[in-house]
Amino acid sequence: MAAKVISGTEIAKEIRGELKERVSKLKEQGVTPGLVMIRVGEDPASVSYVSGKEKAAEEIGVWSQTIVLPESASEEELLAKVEEMNRAEHVDGILVQLPLPKHINADKVLTLIDPAKDVDGFHPINVGKMLIGDPYFMPCTPHGAVELMIRSGNPPEGKHVVICGRSNIVGKPLMAMLVQKNKRANATVTVVHTGTKNMAEITRQADILVAAMGSPEVIKADMVKEGAVVIDVGVNRVGWKPSKKDPNKQVPDLRGDVEFETVKEKASAITPVPGGVGPMTITMLMVNTVVAAERRAERMRK
Ligand code: GUN
Repeated sequence: MAAKVISGTEIAKEIRGELKERVSKLKEQGVTPGLVMIRVGEDPASVSYVSGKEKAAEEIGVWSQTIVLPESASEEELLAKVEEMNRAEHVDGILVQLPLPKHINADKVLTLIDPAKDVDGFHPINVGKMLIGDPYFMPCTPHGAVELMIRSGNPPEGKHVVICGRSNIVGKPLMAMLVQKNKRANATVTVVHTGTKNMAEITRQADILVAAMGSPEVIKADMVKEGAVVIDVGVNRVGWKPSKKDPNKQVPDLRGDVEFETVKEKASAITPVPGGVGPMTITMLMVNTVVAAERRAERMRK
């Protein structure tokens, strides 16, 4: 039987509706949530991600500004911008779009961001707080994946979740999130990666399989248990294809880490690419920005 396709677009819309109300309440108290994004260079994927984040901010009433530095910008210039935004009172969230050019030390930049404004959840303090079960900001992509599981009726509690990939942005924080002892987690978690010898044998044990390795369509049907829930975090640009709206226009041909057409015949539920985890990532960034602004409003009341 073909799987139910989980629409990240729809679930994201539902959450954005909830956020709009929270933003209205903040504005009544004189607080407009503010998000500053810093992009260095013109990497096409980064340009597209940042513009998606700007649109989402506008939709829910968050003020946003994108600072664009040239590819040749020095590390000092970027660090100075981050410090300036750390000091700016109207800025609740700061996001430095990754990847950064090779001559810039990304860890140094991310560590300079005020942990109270770190809406990406990448600062080592916030990573550590999440690991010990006292999260301050949840990193957006893994948080979006968990929210998708819960809101689609597939909560991770009591399930065996197998995560493919151990990146600092997705695999590792998702592992930390899902092992916590709380209602939204409480899963048995296995992480497989390039050092794993018998990967398919392990992925076939997953009640919930999360693909986050960053290679197109590597999860095939024979790696998935009948009836499993499959969450595809991958976004891989494999080439270009004619646009559905205008066949004379070329648009990026995006594929997930899962071979969707074959795996959907075996899974009970699956997320598509695009339209799955992607819109959720952006929405969770908005959640964190609103949370940061609510904390500011709380401080103003005291
Ligand atoms: N590049 C790819 N994903 C992300 C993300 O979640 N945050 C930032 N800042 N950069 C990214």
